[in-house]
Amino acid sequence: MKDREGLKREIRALLKEKDALMLAHNYQRDEIQEIADITGDSLALSQAASAAPQKVIVFCGVHFMAESAAILSPDKTVILPRKDAGCPMADMITPEDLIKEKAKRPGVPVVAYVNTSAAVKALSDICCTSANAVRVVDSLSTDRVYMIPDRNLSHYVSLSVKKKMEWWNGFCPTHERLTPQDVVRAKKENPGSVFVCHPECNPEVVKLADHVCSTSGMYRFAKATSAKIIIVGTETGILYRLKKENPEKTFVIPSRALICPNMKLTALEDVEESLREMNNVVTVPEDIRVKAKEALDRMLKVPRD
Ligand code: 13P
Ligand code: SF4
Repeated sequence: MKDREGLKREIRALLKEKDALMLAHNYQRDEIQEIADITGDSLALSQAASAAPQKVIVFCGVHFMAESAAILSPDKTVILPRKDAGCPMADMITPEDLIKEKAKRPGVPVVAYVNTSAAVKALSDICCTSANAVRVVDSLSTDRVYMIPDRNLSHYVSLSVKKKMEWWNGFCPTHERLTPQDVVRAKKENPGSVFVCHPECNPEVVKLADHVCSTSGMYRFAKATSAKIIIVGTETGILYRLKKENPEKTFVIPSRALICPNMKLTALEDVEESLREMNNVVTVPEDIRVKAKEALDRMLKVPRD
């Protein structure tokens, strides 16, 4: 195995040589987050990709994220260092499924969580991420909304909006593994702690939370809270920045099952190789790209906070 520090330096040099920007999702391995130009949640990364002056984007995350960058920036080369890094939740709904659901609800807008394929986004009216889902649904003029693919995020949104909501029965297998029992046990073991969780968690877990937000929202929450112990209901990659930014606080992940195998696939070697060879380029057919971009652009026009 190559020396890790040497490999990191090689990647940084290659990024410069290829005029490339390295983006990393908040769930990526520590060593990937450490050398990325920008780390963030799905929304922040899609905005960063579209605003970037660089010609090449190395997207350390999962396929739908790189695809979103390719949709927003057709003039850029978007590399996904591991082409097998997918998202099982995104795979739970196909374009054919969505066509059937839309036919049952004429005139009802479809809100697609960004964790969907480009082909599914192309059939949707507007996208959302966990950071803006409530605001996106609120921004629609209809009193009915159909949301895909995450039943847990949809349920969470339905509690905050005055619209009749229906949704597809998808879920994130990683977040779904966190149980209310795990949270109750962690609270008991950590008196005085607060619990923050991602809306992809099961409603029974969400009910126990002091705060529910996107991964980037968790960084803001951790800084703002006066609590010294924070129980975190999301993927373990979140710990890297939480600990770095709040050395005086303790962070507890309440279950060992909170690891997304897809997010953990990307290693430094994959980043170096894909950048050197300029391979694993993600592209989207132009007819799908144009329609999917409309749904993403509508989302990006909804104010963030
Ligand atoms: P956010 O980073 O947008 O909160 O999304 C979490 C997630 O599961 C991405 O796959
Ligand atoms: Fe998909 Fe869940 Fe992994 Fe996010 S954490 S990429 S939603 S499987």
